[in-house]
Amino acid sequence: MDKPRRAILGAAAALVAASPLAKAQGRGRAGEAPPLAASPQEKRVLEVIADVGGNQRYLSVPEEDGRLLRILAESLGAKQVVEIGTSTGYSGLWLLLALAKTGGRLTTYELDAGRYEAAKRNFERAGLGKHVVQVLGDAHEEVKKLKEPIDLLFLDADKEGYVDYLARLRPLVRPGGLIVAHNMASPPADPAYLRAITTDPALETVFLNMQSAGVGVTLKKR
Ligand SMILES: C[S@@+](CC[C@H](N)C(=O)[O-])C[C@H]1O[C@@H](n2cnc3c(N)ncnc32)[C@H](O)[C@@H]1O
Repeated sequence: MDKPRRAILGAAAALVAASPLAKAQGRGRAGEAPPLAASPQEKRVLEVIADVGGNQRYLSVPEEDGRLLRILAESLGAKQVVEIGTSTGYSGLWLLLALAKTGGRLTTYELDAGRYEAAKRNFERAGLGKHVVQVLGDAHEEVKKLKEPIDLLFLDADKEGYVDYLARLRPLVRPGGLIVAHNMASPPADPAYLRAITTDPALETVFLNMQSAGVGVTLKKR
């Protein structure tokens, strides 16, 4: 190769290496760029997400699953999202990025008072407290009080409880709504839950991100 051509190729390679796409390759799957803020509000939320993800993880979903939750909720135009398993609010913050745009609400359940309080602080400092109803207590009992239709239900608490949550909340999930379940690959999902979401003709399920924790995305057909 002649010298000028080598120089041009070298400069192009340096540009690619400095691109967000290339930087992303060390953090997520090849080809994915990091989340980019389109507004000061989004920037503020993404900063809190990065802080919680870096410093306050307690069994939180991986970043790619958080981003998936946001995309699902925002593309559904979700107004009512129910999350079982708040922890410190990491997945909730991703869902809230969507709900801030749709004008919707997150109702999220947590058994542990310390994590409930930590999540409250995180939602507040993201400026999204007004979009959240936090419930402290056993979700198996507390969800009995829910009455409104649900656009997206996210299951991420006691894994052996998924069948019960599904039975209780499926009637509230609107036709065309989603039931998203975490840890379908690791730890292994409850076979009874897998049966429930894959053998019912009224539901359509795919499994995503199965190379890590794994996410089941189930459509309640119209
Ligand atoms: C895997 S963590 C949730 C992670 C969170 N979704 C995130 O990604 O940031 C599961 C949480 O569910 C809570 N949990 C377990 N059983 C519960 C129950 N029966 N009711 C409410 N919360 C429960 C645990 O205390 C724990 O904080």
